[in-house]
Amino acid sequence: MPATVVLGVGAGIAAYKAAYLLRDLSKRGFDVHVVPTPASLAFVGTATWQALSQHPVHTGVFDTGDADHVELARRADLIVISPATADLIARLRIGAADDLLTTTVLASSCPVLLAPAMHTAMWANPATQDNIKQLRQRGIHILDPEVGALGSGDVGKGRMVEPHVIAEAAASILKCSHVSPNDGSQGFDVSTPRLGAPLDGQRLLVTAGGTREAIDPVRFIGNTSSGRQGCAIAQAGLEMGASVTLITANISPALLPVPQERLTIIEAVTAADVERETLSRLDGHDVLIMAAAVADFRPSVVAASKIKKDPATLDAPTIVLERTTDILAAATTHPHRPPVIVGFAAETGDAETVRALGADKARRKGADLLAVNRVGDGHGFGDVPNSVDLLNAQGEYVDHIEGEKELVARALLEHVATLLGTIAR
Ligand code: CTP
Repeated sequence: MPATVVLGVGAGIAAYKAAYLLRDLSKRGFDVHVVPTPASLAFVGTATWQALSQHPVHTGVFDTGDADHVELARRADLIVISPATADLIARLRIGAADDLLTTTVLASSCPVLLAPAMHTAMWANPATQDNIKQLRQRGIHILDPEVGALGSGDVGKGRMVEPHVIAEAAASILKCSHVSPNDGSQGFDVSTPRLGAPLDGQRLLVTAGGTREAIDPVRFIGNTSSGRQGCAIAQAGLEMGASVTLITANISPALLPVPQERLTIIEAVTAADVERETLSRLDGHDVLIMAAAVADFRPSVVAASKIKKDPATLDAPTIVLERTTDILAAATTHPHRPPVIVGFAAETGDAETVRALGADKARRKGADLLAVNRVGDGHGFGDVPNSVDLLNAQGEYVDHIEGEKELVARALLEHVATLLGTIAR
């Protein structure tokens, strides 16, 4: 039996897009049950949902006389709410149970994915932002809205992400949560390229992790990059249909995508390893994504044996450093430069400083996109959400992406697909 997805529909103009989402989810083999809020029926009615889902549709807790909410909550492997309106988000935050949808969410223990859609002012309002923050802290997955034309005629942040992005995220969450379909097999194969996958046939070269530069046989200079963001990009690339070569620098095996036909993993330790493995492969790839934290300096001499303390003095050794190659800059001017190159820039400081440093770096590096990654302050490295500003080669602002690394990866690759011309934006 297929996995059960409850598709909640909020009362917004984007409700019609949930119909496309429903079709996408059904095509992927999920059994979708639609639970609209009563107010959303003004946008799309029950007849549409019943016809598309082939299941009865209810909005009230006691519509059938049975405990529908408990039954659905028990069966659901994932609840997706699209569009999630400001009001619905607020009700979810306080744990309201005033219709079948909110009651089902409250009674369930499965993952929940929200695709918010609302006017820019409502999204930016501190009340909504606070609700979003709280829900994220509870582990609810949230796909930040995009900048675009809104139902009101205004243009701004608040437009719901496209249905195929929500469907990809849903499939990925089901896979990550190791939900077993009721037939007892292991998880869902979201790695199989699907018709219309935005990176179908594209070849991605991704670097991830942090390099280590030896001082002596037992010591090195390293950095705190875990490799999570690069691995998330590799995983998202596979899900979007690409083949991926992942160059890993000192990454825990637990973080790596599961082995599969379209994934090649190359291990590297030092900046020189990453340089050699990356530049020699540019020719066979369409996209280079430099997510690795590569050392800028390495000891100019590596001691052949362990450096010992001099017991007679308190002297400490002086380590002389030399520059490493800037691989990203080398790739952008390489004769085999891939059509799309993406760099990351880890910067510290307040948002404005980070953006200014990023814009300067974007202009210097020559990458098509630079994801300026604010580190420190609970952002960036390690098992924490990520927050990036996407800049173009001229240092101009393209997009802001914030959220779990999987969602940042997916949104970043949407931009890559746009540059490759495989999807229109
Ligand atoms: N990078 C690289 N080769 C290096 C150092 C960095 O290819 N030797 C890449 C990183 O993978 C990243 C981008 O360059 O995509 C920016 O890295 P970052 O460390 O932020 O910038 P740097 O160029 O090292 O500049 P600085 O440390 O002076 O800010």
